[in-house]
Amino acid sequence: MDLSNRLLEITKFVPKGSVVADIGTDHGYIPVYLVEKEISERVIASDISPASLEKTVEYVNRMKLQDKIQTRVGDGLKVLKPAEVDTVIIAGMGGILISNILEESREVTDTIDTFILQPMVASYELRKYLTANGFKIVEESLAKEGRRLYEIIIVKRGEEIIAKDIYYEIGPRLIEKKHPLLKDFIAWKKQEVEDIIRKLEEASIERVRDRYEDMKKKIAEYEEVERKIEGS
Ligand SMILES: C[S@@+](CC[C@H](N)C(=O)[O-])C[C@H]1O[C@@H](n2cnc3c(N)ncnc32)[C@H](O)[C@@H]1O
Repeated sequence: MDLSNRLLEITKFVPKGSVVADIGTDHGYIPVYLVEKEISERVIASDISPASLEKTVEYVNRMKLQDKIQTRVGDGLKVLKPAEVDTVIIAGMGGILISNILEESREVTDTIDTFILQPMVASYELRKYLTANGFKIVEESLAKEGRRLYEIIIVKRGEEIIAKDIYYEIGPRLIEKKHPLLKDFIAWKKQEVEDIIRKLEEASIERVRDRYEDMKKKIAEYEEVERKIEGS
Protein backbone atom coordinates (compact mmCIF):
# COMPACT_ATOMS: atom_id res chain seq x y z
CA MET A 1 0.00 0.00 0.00
CA ASP A 2 1.46 3.35 -1.07
CA LEU A 3 0.83 6.06 1.49
CA SER A 4 -0.47 9.52 0.52
CA ASN A 5 2.04 12.41 0.69
CA ARG A 6 0.50 13.51 4.00
CA LEU A 7 0.75 10.13 5.70
CA LEU A 8 4.21 9.45 4.23
CA GLU A 9 5.51 12.77 5.57
CA ILE A 10 4.18 11.87 9.03
CA THR A 11 6.02 8.53 9.02
CA LYS A 12 9.36 10.26 8.23
CA PHE A 13 9.39 11.68 11.76
CA VAL A 14 8.89 8.39 13.58
CA PRO A 15 12.19 7.51 15.28
CA LYS A 16 13.55 4.14 14.14
CA GLY A 17 12.98 1.43 16.71
CA SER A 18 10.24 3.35 18.50
CA VAL A 19 7.10 1.97 20.08
CA VAL A 20 4.25 3.99 18.62
CA ALA A 21 0.59 4.71 19.31
CA ASP A 22 -1.46 5.96 16.37
CA ILE A 23 -4.44 7.70 17.96
CA GLY A 24 -7.44 8.04 15.63
CA THR A 25 -5.92 5.53 13.24
CA ASP A 26 -9.14 4.98 11.23
CA HIS A 27 -7.87 2.88 8.28
CA GLY A 28 -4.67 1.70 9.97
CA TYR A 29 -2.38 2.69 7.08
CA ILE A 30 0.27 4.27 9.30
CA PRO A 31 0.67 1.33 11.74
CA VAL A 32 0.99 -1.21 8.92
CA TYR A 33 3.50 0.96 7.04
CA LEU A 34 5.65 1.52 10.16
CA VAL A 35 5.87 -2.20 10.91
CA GLU A 36 6.34 -3.30 7.28
CA LYS A 37 9.19 -0.81 6.79
CA GLU A 38 10.69 -1.95 10.11
CA ILE A 39 10.55 1.59 11.49
CA SER A 40 8.59 0.37 14.52
CA GLU A 41 8.75 -2.94 16.28
CA ARG A 42 5.34 -2.56 17.88
CA VAL A 43 2.38 -0.22 17.29
CA ILE A 44 -0.84 0.38 19.20
CA ALA A 45 -3.57 1.48 16.78
CA SER A 46 -6.59 3.07 18.41
CA ASP A 47 -9.76 4.89 17.48
CA ILE A 48 -12.77 6.19 19.39
CA SER A 49 -15.06 4.74 16.72
CA PRO A 50 -15.52 0.95 16.76
CA ALA A 51 -16.51 1.08 13.07
CA SER A 52 -13.28 2.92 12.18
CA LEU A 53 -11.15 0.56 14.22
CA GLU A 54 -12.79 -2.41 12.54
CA LYS A 55 -11.20 -1.23 9.27
CA THR A 56 -7.80 -1.37 10.96
CA VAL A 57 -8.48 -4.80 12.50
CA GLU A 58 -9.38 -6.21 9.07
CA TYR A 59 -6.33 -4.64 7.44
CA VAL A 60 -3.96 -5.86 10.16
CA ASN A 61 -5.39 -9.38 9.94
CA ARG A 62 -5.11 -9.36 6.16
CA MET A 63 -1.44 -8.35 6.43
CA LYS A 64 -0.91 -10.95 9.22
CA LEU A 65 0.57 -8.36 11.55
CA GLN A 66 -1.52 -9.11 14.66
CA ASP A 67 1.60 -9.92 16.70
CA LYS A 68 3.06 -6.43 16.05
CA ILE A 69 -0.02 -4.18 15.88
CA GLN A 70 -2.43 -4.12 18.80
CA THR A 71 -5.83 -2.49 18.22
CA ARG A 72 -7.80 -0.67 20.92
CA VAL A 73 -11.11 1.19 20.90
CA GLY A 74 -11.17 4.28 23.08
CA ASP A 75 -10.92 8.03 23.54
CA GLY A 76 -7.56 9.68 22.87
CA LEU A 77 -4.65 8.70 25.10
CA LYS A 78 -6.98 7.02 27.61
CA VAL A 79 -6.28 3.73 25.79
CA LEU A 80 -2.63 3.90 26.95
CA LYS A 81 -0.90 3.26 30.26
CA PRO A 82 1.85 5.73 31.23
CA ALA A 83 5.15 4.94 29.43
CA GLU A 84 3.58 2.18 27.33
CA VAL A 85 4.82 3.84 24.11
CA ASP A 86 7.49 6.45 23.38
CA THR A 87 5.96 8.06 20.27
CA VAL A 88 2.40 9.21 19.68
CA ILE A 89 0.87 10.15 16.32
CA ILE A 90 -2.36 12.15 16.27
CA ALA A 91 -3.23 12.99 12.66
CA GLY A 92 -6.20 14.07 10.62
CA MET A 93 -8.12 15.81 13.43
CA GLY A 94 -8.72 19.44 14.34
CA GLY A 95 -6.07 21.28 16.37
CA ILE A 96 -8.42 21.90 19.29
CA LEU A 97 -9.39 18.21 19.51
CA ILE A 98 -5.67 17.30 19.43
CA SER A 99 -4.92 19.70 22.30
CA ASN A 100 -7.87 18.33 24.30
CA ILE A 101 -6.56 14.78 23.81
CA LEU A 102 -3.10 15.82 25.07
CA GLU A 103 -4.53 17.72 28.03
CA GLU A 104 -7.08 15.12 29.17
CA SER A 105 -4.42 12.45 29.82
CA ARG A 106 -1.48 14.40 31.28
CA GLU A 107 -0.39 11.30 33.24
CA VAL A 108 0.22 9.58 29.88
CA THR A 109 1.25 12.69 27.92
CA ASP A 110 4.03 13.42 30.41
CA THR A 111 5.66 10.02 29.72
CA ILE A 112 5.80 10.35 25.91
CA ASP A 113 9.06 11.28 24.22
CA THR A 114 7.85 12.42 20.76
CA PHE A 115 4.46 13.58 19.48
CA ILE A 116 3.78 13.80 15.76
CA LEU A 117 0.73 16.01 15.33
CA GLN A 118 -1.05 16.73 12.08
CA PRO A 119 -3.92 19.17 12.54
CA MET A 120 -6.38 19.56 9.63
CA VAL A 121 -7.53 22.96 10.96
CA ALA A 122 -6.76 25.25 13.93
CA SER A 123 -2.98 24.84 13.91
CA TYR A 124 -2.81 28.36 15.42
CA GLU A 125 -4.83 27.20 18.44
CA LEU A 126 -2.78 24.00 18.68
CA ARG A 127 0.56 25.88 18.74
CA LYS A 128 -0.91 28.27 21.33
CA TYR A 129 -1.91 25.31 23.51
CA LEU A 130 1.45 23.55 23.07
CA THR A 131 3.62 26.53 23.93
CA ALA A 132 1.46 27.46 26.94
CA ASN A 133 1.51 23.92 28.33
CA GLY A 134 5.10 22.74 28.47
CA PHE A 135 5.78 21.52 24.93
CA LYS A 136 8.45 22.61 22.50
CA ILE A 137 8.17 22.36 18.74
CA VAL A 138 11.29 20.49 17.64
CA GLU A 139 10.48 20.17 13.95
CA GLU A 140 7.76 21.02 11.48
CA SER A 141 6.94 20.01 7.94
CA LEU A 142 4.41 20.40 5.16
CA ALA A 143 2.90 17.93 2.72
CA LYS A 144 1.04 18.80 -0.45
CA GLU A 145 -1.83 16.87 -2.00
CA GLY A 146 -3.46 18.58 -4.96
CA ARG A 147 -3.91 22.22 -3.97
CA ARG A 148 -4.12 21.50 -0.26
CA LEU A 149 -1.20 21.72 2.15
CA TYR A 150 -0.99 19.89 5.46
CA GLU A 151 1.04 20.87 8.51
CA ILE A 152 2.99 18.35 10.57
CA ILE A 153 4.25 19.45 13.99
CA ILE A 154 6.77 17.38 15.96
CA VAL A 155 6.75 18.11 19.62
CA LYS A 156 8.58 17.11 22.78
CA ARG A 157 8.08 18.22 26.35
CA GLY A 158 9.99 21.44 26.99
CA GLU A 159 9.79 25.18 26.64
CA GLU A 160 9.03 27.23 23.55
CA ILE A 161 8.76 30.97 23.22
CA ILE A 162 7.03 32.21 20.08
CA ALA A 163 8.22 35.68 19.12
CA LYS A 164 5.25 36.88 17.06
CA ASP A 165 1.56 36.01 16.89
CA ILE A 166 1.79 35.13 13.17
CA TYR A 167 4.28 32.33 14.00
CA TYR A 168 1.48 30.44 15.77
CA GLU A 169 -0.08 30.22 12.32
CA ILE A 170 3.02 29.85 10.16
CA GLY A 171 5.18 27.58 12.28
CA PRO A 172 8.57 28.90 13.46
CA ARG A 173 10.53 25.79 12.39
CA LEU A 174 9.07 26.03 8.86
CA ILE A 175 10.34 29.60 8.61
CA GLU A 176 13.78 28.86 10.07
CA LYS A 177 14.48 26.06 7.64
CA LYS A 178 12.68 27.76 4.73
CA HIS A 179 10.68 24.64 4.06
CA PRO A 180 10.46 24.06 0.28
CA LEU A 181 6.63 24.19 0.43
CA LEU A 182 6.47 27.27 2.66
CA LYS A 183 5.90 29.76 -0.17
CA ASP A 184 3.06 27.58 -1.47
CA PHE A 185 1.66 27.36 2.06
CA ILE A 186 1.64 31.14 2.53
CA ALA A 187 0.17 31.64 -0.95
CA TRP A 188 -2.59 29.15 -0.09
CA LYS A 189 -3.37 30.92 3.20
CA LYS A 190 -3.32 34.32 1.48
CA GLN A 191 -5.76 33.02 -1.10
CA GLU A 192 -8.17 31.94 1.64
CA VAL A 193 -8.01 35.35 3.34
CA GLU A 194 -8.29 37.22 0.03
CA ASP A 195 -11.46 35.24 -0.73
CA ILE A 196 -12.89 36.45 2.60
CA ILE A 197 -11.82 40.05 1.85
CA ARG A 198 -13.56 39.89 -1.52
CA LYS A 199 -16.79 38.68 0.12
CA LEU A 200 -16.55 41.40 2.79
CA GLU A 201 -15.99 44.04 0.10
CA GLU A 202 -19.08 42.81 -1.69
CA ALA A 203 -21.05 43.00 1.56
CA SER A 204 -19.73 46.57 2.00
CA ILE A 205 -21.52 47.30 5.24
CA GLU A 206 -20.26 48.87 8.43
CA ARG A 207 -20.94 45.70 10.44
CA VAL A 208 -18.08 43.85 8.70
CA ARG A 209 -15.57 46.73 8.89
CA ASP A 210 -13.57 45.23 11.81
CA ARG A 211 -13.33 41.83 10.17
CA TYR A 212 -12.25 43.50 6.93
CA GLU A 213 -9.48 45.39 8.75
CA ASP A 214 -8.38 42.14 10.50
CA MET A 215 -8.13 40.33 7.18
CA LYS A 216 -6.11 43.15 5.59
CA LYS A 217 -3.76 43.04 8.58
CA LYS A 218 -3.44 39.28 8.14
CA ILE A 219 -2.37 39.67 4.51
CA ALA A 220 0.27 42.22 5.60
CA GLU A 221 1.57 39.71 8.18
CA TYR A 222 1.78 36.91 5.59
CA GLU A 223 3.70 39.25 3.30
CA GLU A 224 6.10 40.12 6.11
CA VAL A 225 6.90 36.41 6.52
CA GLU A 226 7.29 36.07 2.74
CA ARG A 227 9.82 38.92 2.73
CA LYS A 228 11.61 37.31 5.67
CA ILE A 229 12.09 33.97 3.88
CA GLU A 230 13.04 35.65 0.60
CA GLY A 231 15.36 38.26 2.08
CA SER A 232 17.56 36.45 4.58
C1 LIG B 1 -10.16 11.90 9.58
S1 LIG B 1 -9.74 10.48 10.49
C2 LIG B 1 -7.97 10.51 10.40
C3 LIG B 1 -7.41 9.13 10.21
C4 LIG B 1 -5.89 9.06 10.16
N1 LIG B 1 -5.29 9.38 11.45
C5 LIG B 1 -5.35 9.97 9.09
O1 LIG B 1 -4.69 10.97 9.44
O2 LIG B 1 -5.57 9.71 7.90
C6 LIG B 1 -10.01 10.95 12.18
C7 LIG B 1 -10.18 9.73 13.07
O3 LIG B 1 -10.06 10.16 14.42
C8 LIG B 1 -10.99 9.43 15.19
N2 LIG B 1 -11.19 10.18 16.44
C9 LIG B 1 -11.88 11.33 16.64
N3 LIG B 1 -11.84 11.71 17.93
C10 LIG B 1 -11.05 10.79 18.58
C11 LIG B 1 -10.63 10.62 19.92
N4 LIG B 1 -10.98 11.49 20.87
N5 LIG B 1 -9.85 9.56 20.22
C12 LIG B 1 -9.49 8.67 19.27
N6 LIG B 1 -9.88 8.77 17.98
C13 LIG B 1 -10.65 9.82 17.63
C14 LIG B 1 -12.19 9.32 14.29
O4 LIG B 1 -13.04 8.26 14.68
C15 LIG B 1 -11.55 9.07 12.92
O5 LIG B 1 -11.40 7.71 12.65
